Amino acid sequence: MRTMKLGTSSLEVPVIAVGCMGLNSLSIPDAERFLRTALEHGVNFFDHADVYHSGDCERVFAQALHMNDDVREKVIIQGKVGIWNGYNSSREHLTQAVEGTLKRLQTDYLDVLLIHRPDPLVEPEEVAETFDALYTSGKVRNFGVSNHNGGQIALLQKFVKQPIVANQLQFSAAHAFMISRGVNVNMNNEAALDRDGGVLDFCRLHDITIQPWSPFRYGFFEGVFLGNKKYPKLNETIRAIANKYGVTDTTIAIAWILRHPAHMQPISGTVKTSRLKEICKAADITLTRDEWYDIFRAAGNQLP
Ligand SMILES: NC(=O)c1ccc[n+]([C@@H]2O[C@H](COP(=O)([O-])OP(=O)(O)OC[C@H]3O[C@@H](n4cnc5c(N)ncnc54)[C@H](OP(=O)(O)O)[C@@H]3O)[C@@H](O)[C@H]2O)c1
Repeated sequence: MRTMKLGTSSLEVPVIAVGCMGLNSLSIPDAERFLRTALEHGVNFFDHADVYHSGDCERVFAQALHMNDDVREKVIIQGKVGIWNGYNSSREHLTQAVEGTLKRLQTDYLDVLLIHRPDPLVEPEEVAETFDALYTSGKVRNFGVSNHNGGQIALLQKFVKQPIVANQLQFSAAHAFMISRGVNVNMNNEAALDRDGGVLDFCRLHDITIQPWSPFRYGFFEGVFLGNKKYPKLNETIRAIANKYGVTDTTIAIAWILRHPAHMQPISGTVKTSRLKEICKAADITLTRDEWYDIFRAAGNQLP
């Protein structure tokens, strides 16, 4: 598996990560098989959140890996906290939530902690003090955010000493708004609508790794676009490219994300070992410019 640096951190991470939101749907032996397959393929970066099935995914992860000091050294664990009665980035909540996550994961530290969603009541000075305490106690080594725009990150970074190294955002061929608005600047059309404050360029300018979530979905958990009758042209285009490379459509959907020069790290949500292997193959494929644009257009994205 190809690796890269996560943002400005010293962490060397696989270019594809495993999202653990669905891990609790597996029995412990099946989860163990799935996680071992990921590790055998060099995918040692695991994305968690305390809200995923009320912490069950974190529990299943620790149990399935038989967590101990040796195992812990072999995995990179990212946790997300801050969703509670709405969103909550207060010191009290973030501190308690990290404690709960560490306990369920049976570990003393997180490699990366993300604030899951922007809290309108956030006090950035308080977040800075909280991050300092988590960092100096050794409980969290790196920090980032999720679903934040550039202004929200800049506000946090004005006070937070540690660099924001990652921003997790929804992104797929069928959910490519942060690219389509950039190619429709100043146009009087729907695609020109600014939904994210230019977050793609902001993250590139500040060396923040974008981690696309739901790389196979469209809408907000409406469905998977592969094999979906709603996307005939996209599926036809992806299939033709997949045939050319001798891989599956699943591989090409991820290769499309990896081809973007922002060096994004897609977070895959499958809990099937066979599908994970197909996803890993994407790290060895570099789509041509034409192929990338063909997929972009086939998904319904317009070029002026
Ligand atoms: N930061 C956030 O706000 C946020 C939000 C959502 C998710 N996340 C993170 O992102 C990760 C991925 O999210 P996701 O699960 O929505 O992403 P995804 O990888 O797009 O999810 C794909 C889902 O569709 C299924 N699927 C059906 N056909 C598929 C195909 N041909 N190829 C691939 N998958 C197919 C998979 O099920 P099978 O298991 O059957 O393969 C899987 O459950 C999560 O685990 C979580 O860690 C973060």
